[in-house]
This record gives sequence, C-alpha cells and structure tokens, in this order.
Amino acid sequence: RPQLVARAAYALRGNDQGRLHVAAPNLYPHMWSWDAAFVAIGLARLSTLRALDELETLFAAQWRTGLVPHIVFTDGDAPYEPGPKRWTCRELCADAPSGASTSGLIQPPVHGVAVRRILDAARSAPAAERREVVERIRALWPSLLAWHRYLAAYRDADGLGQLMIYHGWESGMDNSPRWDAPYAAVLPGAEFVPFRRADLNALGLTGGAPSQRPTDAEYAKYQWLIQELRQVRYDDSRARDSLSFRVADVFAAAIFVAANEELATVADELGLPGADELIGYADRFRHGVLATTDERGFAADLDLRAGTVLRTETIAGFAPLLSGGLDPARQAALLAELTSPRWCGHPALQYAVPPTTSPLAVEFDPVRYWRGPQWPPMTWLLIWGLERSGEQEAALAIREAAIDQLADGLFAEYYDPFTSAPLGARPQSWSAAVALDLLA
Ligand code: DGY
Repeated sequence: RPQLVARAAYALRGNDQGRLHVAAPNLYPHMWSWDAAFVAIGLARLSTLRALDELETLFAAQWRTGLVPHIVFTDGDAPYEPGPKRWTCRELCADAPSGASTSGLIQPPVHGVAVRRILDAARSAPAAERREVVERIRALWPSLLAWHRYLAAYRDADGLGQLMIYHGWESGMDNSPRWDAPYAAVLPGAEFVPFRRADLNALGLTGGAPSQRPTDAEYAKYQWLIQELRQVRYDDSRARDSLSFRVADVFAAAIFVAANEELATVADELGLPGADELIGYADRFRHGVLATTDERGFAADLDLRAGTVLRTETIAGFAPLLSGGLDPARQAALLAELTSPRWCGHPALQYAVPPTTSPLAVEFDPVRYWRGPQWPPMTWLLIWGLERSGEQEAALAIREAAIDQLADGLFAEYYDPFTSAPLGARPQSWSAAVALDLLA
C-alpha cells in the first residue's frame, strides 16, 4: 500500500501545473471543477496548503453570479474542443470573470466536502500550517457561500430542491442513460457551426477510443447546447426558459445536500457566517431528492422541460445515500439494491464496486464512458455516503474492493466492470486523488 500511495502522488505530480492540476494529460489539459474538488480531497492527505491552492485557483475564476465554471482553461493553447473560442463567455456575458478563460457551465458541487476534509487534515498538521489553513478558508468563505447561493437561487428558482442543469456535462455524467430521453429532444438547428472532435485523437485512435467515448451524434448535441447558451448570452433567467435540455439532476442535488451540511460544520467550527442558511439549503434539497424515490429508496431525475420523471438504472439512483433522510426500511431496501446482482453483487464483476449503469439495464455498455464503467470518484462518493448513512460494513466492503481495483497503479479515468481493463485517459488526476484518500 505505501507503494501505491507513492505512485498516486507521483501520478498527480505529473499533472500538476503549480496551482492547478490538469484533469488528465492530452484529453483534459485544463482544470475541471469537480475534478479539482476530488483532487483537493486527495491532496489534503499530502499537503493541506497545496489542496487549498487547487480550490483557490478554481474559485478565482468564479463568475459574478456565483457560478463556478466547469472548465478553467490553462494559459497556452493545449488542444481541447470546445475551447475558449467556442465558449466566448467573456465576450458575451458581463458576469464572466475578466482574469480567466472559462466554460459557461457548472459541475456537481463537491467543493464544500473538500473544504471540510482539508480542515480535518489540518488537525494533525503543525500549528502554523493549521493557522494558515484556517485563514485561507476564511478568505475563501464568501466565494463558497456565493457558489451555494447561486445554485439555490438560479438553479432552483422555484425553491423545490431540484437542481436544474442545462447540459449533460453539468451532471459530470455526460452520456449516461440518465439523459437519453431529454437528449432525444435536442436537435441541432440549421445554424449549427461544425466542429472537430479533439477527444478521440487525444486518446489515440488505435486505442479503441471511439468505443469508450460518446458518439458523434451525441457530441453534436453537446456542441449545439453551447450554441443555445451563447444565444441567451449565458443569462440564467433566459436559459431556464428556453434551452432544449433542462433537467433536475438528483445526484448533484444530493451532493449539494452533503456539501451544505459539511460547510455548515465548518462555519460553526470557525465562527463563519451562513450556517443556518446552508442547513436550510440542505433541508430543501434533501426533500427534493427524497420526493423522487421509489419503494426501493432509489432516486430519479426529472425532465423539467417535458414534465416527466426519468427512471433509469444508473448510479444516480443511490443519491439518498449522500443526502440522507430515508426511513430505516427504505434505507435497508436501498442497501439491498446496492448489494444485489443488479449492482455490486453481479457475479461477473471483477471488483465489487458499483458500475455507473446496472449491468442488467438494456443501456449498459461495459466500456462506453458513463454507460457502465466503474469510475473511482463515484465509488468514493458512495463509500462516503454509506459511511454518512451509518452503513459502515457495506462501506468497508466497497472500500476494500475499490483499493484492490486501484492497485493496478494506472489511475485510469474509468474501468471495465467485467475485466477491470483501464479505460479513457490516464493518469486521471481524480482517480489518483481518490486512491490517496482511500489509502490514508
Ligand atoms: C469532456 O470533454 O468529455 C468533458 O466531460 C466535458 O466536460
């Protein structure tokens, strides 16, 4: 295990650009929002101060509305499509930051969890380091609150505890079956500006990349939605009434519940403002998550545009393990679901960690991105959620399986559940970071 820790630290160092880690070499040569949060969670085990750098770099690119962008582009022109020229956020929207080039979308709000863990890790650090950590969290606090206020005000304008997203990328689970139905209604118009995919080249065309990534048809929809956002100049009030993709992401909502609770404890501990407000958001979104659950306690997304419930057999169904609040009977049912042959108990799994889509679902594909492969940070979230829900035994079993899977030392972006073949980019910063935390 010490060897694996060293390998994970080494992998992260290779992606380190000083005050940020690129998400992965070649494929994601910039900073991604929820990747950065996981990187900070892992780095907290090595250096609390370096972990804070990561969050500070990300929040330095925050928009005036409080939006934390899903991509912060690094200086230079590392190829990524859509790059800054396609987003043109600064040119179109006065709320975009002037100092950094960013995307105009969000990703799930894991950041508050990272702040809590950095503060926890600082407990065993020398006094001077702990003082610096506290000072820097204090300085970051208004930005953290602004981020949570943005999500509560702009992404849940009706106050129902439903987190509205404008693009599958905002869920972080781009091509998950969760979004198949809403994407069927996204049809690129005549004004569609052609683009060239960079992702397939970045992965190497000989490496089976096309079978591991979203399809061309999906990519055209992804790019078209950016054009729609550009048309409304990234204005939230226009976006939420006009975009052809508007869904409530139950998994991100559950993460938001947990992040609010974690930050509220930080506020209490450091005497910072906003604890009651954060708890209020947590309660509101927990209610929103639980309102979607079925008799198994399994949660669903909502298509806000079509007014339909999106029931899919994906990992997002386990959202209540993160939000908490299930009654004991349904929590037991959800745990039984997780360990059943539909999920971790499937007999053909190489490692008993949850695939992103149930192997028994018709949409399941063992290698295609979010349609089946196991993703280390999602495994981490479920372990953490189980621990928060008091399910220590189940958490431990998945933790051990996750460590065994990561022991290949490659820190791949995702893994084939049946063979555990490493897929996608590598080393992916967040996979290495998750290993660091799980091994600590
Ligand atoms: C990608 O480029 O595939 C990312 O997931 C989008 O944020």
